[in-house]
Amino acid sequence: MKPSIAVVVTDRDSDELCEQLKLALPGVKIQQWPHIDEPESVVFAVLWQHPPGTTASFPNLKAVTSLGAGTDHMDADPVLIGVPQHRIVTDSLKQLMAQYVLLYVLSEARHQLGYYTQQHSKTWQVLEQAGEPKTIGFIGLGALGGFCADRCADLGFNTMAWTEQSKHERHPCFHGDTGLMKVISESDFVVLLLPMTEHTHHIINSKTLSWFKKEAVLINVARGGHVDPEALHHALTSGQLKSAVLDVFEQEPLPQDSPLWALDNLIITPHISARSDNLQTAEAVVALFKALD
Ligand code: GLV
Repeated sequence: MKPSIAVVVTDRDSDELCEQLKLALPGVKIQQWPHIDEPESVVFAVLWQHPPGTTASFPNLKAVTSLGAGTDHMDADPVLIGVPQHRIVTDSLKQLMAQYVLLYVLSEARHQLGYYTQQHSKTWQVLEQAGEPKTIGFIGLGALGGFCADRCADLGFNTMAWTEQSKHERHPCFHGDTGLMKVISESDFVVLLLPMTEHTHHIINSKTLSWFKKEAVLINVARGGHVDPEALHHALTSGQLKSAVLDVFEQEPLPQDSPLWALDNLIITPHISARSDNLQTAEAVVALFKALD
């Protein structure tokens, strides 16, 4: 049986990705979930929120890749222990993420809502205040965080980051609990862009929320599990934190009965900050497949 690729993507349409893979690899069978009729021929799988147990039906798997940047769905799959794992962070993914982060940083830093509100009462009043540029603290400075931090620094913002160990020539990095406190307490915007692990679950909780400046904005574009939703709700309703932007949630879609929907100082988007581009993702999958021994 000829080796094949399985595309197991459950939360979005993968037709275009599969078409691109068929064009680029004409001799290779592309099996698109849920129509996997030859599981034993699968040597490489593209995974995104794959149903538990799917990978167990691929006895000849040589490697897997996440469709995107996050790997939490692969980390949670015991079948993949010992299987080489990749992730795909394309230029497009980085650019979209930077656009999203800058959209909310700029609209807050340049008082977009304030001027729009003033316009309705024909008010001509400068809201900008002279002073230091705003500081953006990145919690996580990997491929996505580093790219976003570079773009923010290009536009004149101060940047700093909390990382596990790594240093960066452009963005000062701090580590451990004291480093986390320093970055959070000195930032006007705190951007979460770190992987989801047992150590980073609820990294934003009632204790770490108490370190934020009252005028700060939290932007979570990583995983919902990084933020304790009850603690965030309390911080946003008690005046401890000015506002937040959440693109990711512990449960997606965010349940209808979540109290977060009702908050005026919270912006909610449906996990769209950076969605993988089919063409660039297909190119990356082809390269990974061709590199299999
Ligand atoms: C999106 O959530 C990604 O991990 O690429």
